[in-house]
Amino acid sequence: MKKIILSASILSADFSNLGEQIQSADDAGIDWIHIDVMDGVFVPNISMGPFVVETCRKLTTNPIDAHLMILNPERYIEAFAKAGANYISIHIENNPHVYRTLEQIRSFGCHPAIAINPGTPVSSIESILNLVDMVLVMTVNPGYSGQSFIHPMCEKITQISELIQTNHSEAVIQVDGGINVESLPLTYHAGARIFVAATAIFKHPQGIAGGIKSLRGSID
Ligand code: DX5
Ligand code: ZN
Repeated sequence: MKKIILSASILSADFSNLGEQIQSADDAGIDWIHIDVMDGVFVPNISMGPFVVETCRKLTTNPIDAHLMILNPERYIEAFAKAGANYISIHIENNPHVYRTLEQIRSFGCHPAIAINPGTPVSSIESILNLVDMVLVMTVNPGYSGQSFIHPMCEKITQISELIQTNHSEAVIQVDGGINVESLPLTYHAGARIFVAATAIFKHPQGIAGGIKSLRGSID
């Protein structure tokens, strides 16, 4: 595994040129493409579904990570798996069937991940840490790109990192929300290894390649 994995969230991409935008990210050495799925109920915003995953699957050979911010995610796992997602993240909140849904994700040949909101206690994910390949720690409240990084989440990342070790889990920590050249190193030192960024890549003043280069250069 590389030192860090960068996952570009297309939530801030120019959708009138999605193919070119993903190509530019690929050319600049992006590792993954992150697709934010919102249902207008679990989070206030409405965004993309399996069709967009299917579209991106045709545009890149890089892994696609689908972040499901939806109620009843079990109803859509098959659709996202068939659309070409490699990682599927579901939230721990409002999810009575999380154990079964994580097994369902694995049964479709995808990597299961658990996502946790800023206000949700770390202990809520302990019992499923051995089922997941990744823990997605939200560093903003989910729903929109362009929000400010919540600094106290660094302590939470450290706690989750310790919990992963105590439970002999293989899970890797991903952070999502407000990741830029300042917050990336903070979360890296707290234990994160996979970094999602929308604004810092797709809205970077020096363009997509400039954004990716700056993020990668932010740690030694
Ligand atoms: C927020 C999404 C994030 C978002 C990140 O709900 O899960 O993936 O796109 O956007 P930035 O990097 O702009 O905070
Ligand atoms: Zn996301």
